[in-house]
Amino acid sequence: MISKTMEKAINEQINKELYSEYYYLAMAAYCESIDLPGFASWMVMQAQEERVHAMRLYNFVHDRDGQVELFAIDKPRKEYDSILDVFENVLKHEKFVTQSINELYQLALKENDYPAQVELQWFIQEQVEEEKTANDIIQQIKMVGDHSMALFMLDQQMGERNTTDNGA
Ligand code: FEO
Repeated sequence: MISKTMEKAINEQINKELYSEYYYLAMAAYCESIDLPGFASWMVMQAQEERVHAMRLYNFVHDRDGQVELFAIDKPRKEYDSILDVFENVLKHEKFVTQSINELYQLALKENDYPAQVELQWFIQEQVEEEKTANDIIQQIKMVGDHSMALFMLDQQMGERNTTDNGA
């Protein structure tokens, strides 16, 4: 059975993953508003991936005979300066999530919670991928610069992502 300390910490992480879903869905809406449907579609996939992360932890708590508690989700930001600004904020947010996962792992070590350690190792690896993907897209957007045709083509490429795996 999961300890109350670990249960509380994982419930807080579930909230962060659900906030991430909400945050990226708001970014998708912003991308739609600046006529970048490919980026918007990519971001909807990203939002769905965050739901998968949340559900993974949700199931883990139940499998360990714990109780999930859902907290309120903050209102996400609506406006950005540019598509570059969007992805710089994605990277910043993923770094925040990485820090949170690392702290959770430290707690699992302290609590001698071996199943949580194994579960969180998946998230540690996933965060490497999440940060790399955001970084790669930032570099591509920077390469495009002010060239509208290149941005149009990058938007089309982003729209080809059709799974919740990081496809960019
Ligand atoms: Fe659930 Fe993007 O980390």
